[in-house]
Amino acid sequence: MILVCGGIKGGVGKSTVATTLTVIRANQGYDVLLVDADDQQTATDFTLMRNETLSESGGAGYTSVQLKGAAVRTDTLRLADKYQDVIIDVGGRDTAGQRAALSIASIYLVPFLPASFDVWTLEKVGELIEESLAFNPELKAYCFLNRADPRGNDNDEAAAIASEIKQLTDLDVTWGNRKAFRNAAAQGLAVTEVKPKDGKAIAEALRLYQYLFGS
Ligand SMILES: Nc1ncnc2c1ncn2[C@@H]1O[C@H](COP(=O)(O)OP(=O)(O)O)[C@@H](O)[C@H]1O
Ligand SMILES: [Mg+2]
Repeated sequence: MILVCGGIKGGVGKSTVATTLTVIRANQGYDVLLVDADDQQTATDFTLMRNETLSESGGAGYTSVQLKGAAVRTDTLRLADKYQDVIIDVGGRDTAGQRAALSIASIYLVPFLPASFDVWTLEKVGELIEESLAFNPELKAYCFLNRADPRGNDNDEAAAIASEIKQLTDLDVTWGNRKAFRNAAAQGLAVTEVKPKDGKAIAEALRLYQYLFGS
């Protein structure tokens, strides 16, 4: 399966989600390719950090490459047969790389935050999906609320706006705004691996994983 973590907003958690899903999938025994299609190279930095953290226990456990522009399509297609799953992390803009990724993906996953400025960009994401479906009719597009507030109305308001975008299915998964996600990423680990364990964060990460990959 080729899964793209995307959207046209920075800082919503695309790289956190891409690296977390990559690690969980790899830890389940699958051979995973992580494609870093963002010039900011967050996924690559994560993998470098991970290799350092896990240098004595075999390293990252998956393969990571950097691609940009049209190569996100051509080179990923060339490599995809060699892996069981491919996860692509793209930048927070409507780039040639993100469009190339959408032309070959089976799943497009778009995190959004509980703030209306962020959610309104989903309308443009809906248009991007519409255009991609013309070339890639099998594409399934999902969104989910990330960094949810512990209380207040903003989560529900954001979800209500997201549910109006007909090209996107809002998954019944939310990730809270939790230190564990940040601490894990800083060490090149998934939240399922980092200590001290945060049971709620782990449950949230696994729930998203299960929606996308099955059990
Ligand atoms: N659920 C979360 N809880 C707390 N911090 C998060 C969460 N998701 C992402 N972050 C933090 O938010 C920042 C932006 O996340 P990142 O994955 O780099 O976003 P993007 O790739 O969309 O730009 C990072 O500092 C990351 O650690
Ligand atoms: Mg990123």
